[in-house]
Amino acid sequence: MSVAVETKALTPPDIAARKHKKPIVCLTAYTTPVARLADRHCDVVLVGDSVGMVLHGLTSTLGVTLEMMIMHGKAVRRGLERALMVVDMPFGSYEEGCEQAFRNAARLMAETGCAAVKLEGGESMADTIRFLTARGIPVMSHVGLTPQAINVLGGYKVQGRGGDGDRILRDAVAVAESGSFSVVLEKVAEPLARRITEEVTIPTIGIGASAACDGQVLVVDDILGMFTAFRPKFVKRYAELGSEAEAAIAAYADDVREGRFPAAEHLFADAPQAGEAA
Ligand code: KIV
Repeated sequence: MSVAVETKALTPPDIAARKHKKPIVCLTAYTTPVARLADRHCDVVLVGDSVGMVLHGLTSTLGVTLEMMIMHGKAVRRGLERALMVVDMPFGSYEEGCEQAFRNAARLMAETGCAAVKLEGGESMADTIRFLTARGIPVMSHVGLTPQAINVLGGYKVQGRGGDGDRILRDAVAVAESGSFSVVLEKVAEPLARRITEEVTIPTIGIGASAACDGQVLVVDDILGMFTAFRPKFVKRYAELGSEAEAAIAAYADDVREGRFPAAEHLFADAPQAGEAA
């Protein structure tokens, strides 16, 4: 098991400095207990807008609000000491222009205590990224498959196959040149993700992209087997907690129905018993 050893909290410049160095480990978290677990092992903890699908049962990330991101961001903050905390800007909270993006990113940082925000988009977001970084807001970018643009992209398809690759390379170069400290490459054909990683100056963090990326990110409920609505090819399951949890719930329900729970050890006598708090 590799436990991260640094005690000081990581910063966006620390992550930017990891280009072509030790792989950056990034995982999503939405709650305090999971953030505590991730903090011991991960460099970056992302409060992703995937929270909408993973915890709130939405069918896409489009219905996620700034208030939801703030609530989950606050919870995650309480669980972190070392990892860099990044919070996703939800759909509709930054696309109108630089001022709207600054207002909402500043609110996310002030209310959650995160050190950076993530936003989707490449060339079209370059001015916004420049505006935010010049005003104290570190930006992680996200190009390739951008789930908030699912209706324009026409589905969760692999990006960067054929002629489309040039557009994604241009997006990655644009977000690097405008000041992002790292860029997520989602569901990008492997040769293109490898090429982008070689050509851009900031760390690439892959999800369904390439082992050559400077880091990797996955959704925590996917790796734990807690999110089972669908399973993308790029997910590796490290546990099957969903089926274990269901078995536990079924056993509890059986115990209640059969009168096996509660048992004597779960109940209280008139006077405290030895070893029991009053
Ligand atoms: O919302 C999210 O969890 C993400 C990651 C999958 C990169 O954007």
